[in-house]
Amino acid sequence: MKKNIIVLVSGGGTNLQALIDAEKKGEIIGGKITCVISSKPDAYALERAKNNGIATRVIPRKEYADSKSYSEAILEALEAEKADLVVLAGFMTILDECVTSRYAYKIINVHPALIPSFCGEGYYGLKVHEKALEYGVKVSGATIHFVNEKADAGAIILQGVVDVEKGDTPEILQRRIMENVEWKLLPKAVSLFCQDKIEIINGKAYVKS
Ligand code: GAR
Repeated sequence: MKKNIIVLVSGGGTNLQALIDAEKKGEIIGGKITCVISSKPDAYALERAKNNGIATRVIPRKEYADSKSYSEAILEALEAEKADLVVLAGFMTILDECVTSRYAYKIINVHPALIPSFCGEGYYGLKVHEKALEYGVKVSGATIHFVNEKADAGAIILQGVVDVEKGDTPEILQRRIMENVEWKLLPKAVSLFCQDKIEIINGKAYVKS
């Protein structure tokens, strides 16, 4: 039986698109995207899901007083959708422990920097690239990791690197990282998970050989 993949989004959804394209090419072995959940009603990612016949749900972050009540609503939806794997693909809300403990090592996030640099609370989207350029690092990249109770602190599955070039703007660097790393490594990690090819040893993730 294929694993049910539920993708959580908040924005444009280019990472969702990369997952959809990979699934169409038969590159998500053992898994199927069955539902996309958005924290924002106007996220373009919802159109991408609809255009590809994938069920959608909107659970607006704004309608919940705090992270705990929001996470409880997300948990209810994940249970209803029978999630085997939850993918955070540009999902801009930190999930409470009620979700991360129930889905331990079953939630995968893509972060647009080389963790442990430029990560944690407040580091999301373009802000991450602004900080990297401000610091003057010469390489950056993206990290695919499991989600635990601390922001961007779960076991790292895959990382990929790009050069930072003179004259880069946050937008240019973001695009280079997306094209060269995120859109490739996120589908790869999802496929590895769906084939049970990721093992956890002492809290660290390894790809089985
Ligand atoms: C991506 O760069 C993703 O890595 C980042 O937001 C962008 C979403 O783009 N995620 C985070 O910063 C999460 N902390 P997308 O909606 O086009 O996939």
